[in-house]
Amino acid sequence: MTTFEEVFGTAPDGAWRAPGRVNLIGEHTDYNDGLVLPIALPNRIVVTASARDDGIVAVSSNGQNGVIEFALDSLEPGSVGDWATYPAGMAWVLREAGYEIGGANLLVDSDLPTGAGLSSSAALLCATGVALLGLRDLEVDPAEVARLAQKAENQYVGAPVGLMDQMASMCCTAGHALYFDIRAMATEQIPFDPEADGLTLLVIDVKAPHRHVDGEYAARRKSCERAAAELGVPALRSITMDGLDEALAKLSDDVDRRRVRHVVTEIDRVEQAVALMRAGRLRDVGALFTASHVSMRDDFEITVPELDVAVDTALAAGAVGARMTGGGFGGCIIALVETAKADQTFAAIERAFGEHGFRAPTSLAATPSPGASKLD
Ligand code: GLA
Repeated sequence: MTTFEEVFGTAPDGAWRAPGRVNLIGEHTDYNDGLVLPIALPNRIVVTASARDDGIVAVSSNGQNGVIEFALDSLEPGSVGDWATYPAGMAWVLREAGYEIGGANLLVDSDLPTGAGLSSSAALLCATGVALLGLRDLEVDPAEVARLAQKAENQYVGAPVGLMDQMASMCCTAGHALYFDIRAMATEQIPFDPEADGLTLLVIDVKAPHRHVDGEYAARRKSCERAAAELGVPALRSITMDGLDEALAKLSDDVDRRRVRHVVTEIDRVEQAVALMRAGRLRDVGALFTASHVSMRDDFEITVPELDVAVDTALAAGAVGARMTGGGFGGCIIALVETAKADQTFAAIERAFGEHGFRAPTSLAATPSPGASKLD
């Protein structure tokens, strides 16, 4: 591994980390002003950094060759490409918001798989943000950093994502899931300790190549916005379970109707999951996971065969619940399983993948971990 001194010829001033996430439940609800329940992973992106005062930001990544440099003054959406578009986007959004970040050398290191639906983009944006701010001792509320990271992803990178991933990366705490109400911009830490109930949360990367993920994500979002406009509400969050049938009857498009049914029922499932977790009934959350997967498969249509086979196999092996997590079209599933059955559940999924001719899946530890911070 290359050291900071080898790349930049100077010692670093510090290092900052931001984690990836898995969402327990509440998928494609964030950009509908809804509810989400992510945990942060132990896997993270670390940005080691030194300040410079010439208005230049230089970035290098242990996964890539060379150093990419850009002048803060001349940053415009689209001006920096490739992986460096993320650190450039964060520098741009901080400049636009009036933060004096001078310039910096940044070395990026990651143990977070990319393209696995674990929010490596949000982690890179957030790690860059806390590093650029931390170098100047600028104290900014974590939720505000998350909002800025989302703005960078929306306006600089050009991906129309919601606010869940950035909030998870900034605001999660160890041992908890983050219950985030987007409409109220309110968060609550919900204790999440599956081991205490004899359960394990398996996170399995199904290694499916992301298929048309950007275009499909944007299409889902458009569908939701079109339906909200047709229903005369600011966002689908305004439709309650009681009003769902009436709302569905008003919609002219059958595809939009199914998209709305997913979003409204999914927001309700998040509320139910949190109520069960508060009551110490984690095992009962399993059925909600499975219902969420069915809704994403049949109504929101964001699963792929690898995700469906992984979920079906986990359930057949005795999981109390399983669902795909993240944006969809590839990525990971989560399965809540009896700890005693965790290994055999993963082995069953490996076997099923072999039989289907899919790539071999991998599993990750899902210990609920803290959000972004400076490293000692
Ligand atoms: C991606 C987006 C999030 C969210 C999820 C789906 O991870 O970045 O904002 O919409 O998909 O829940």
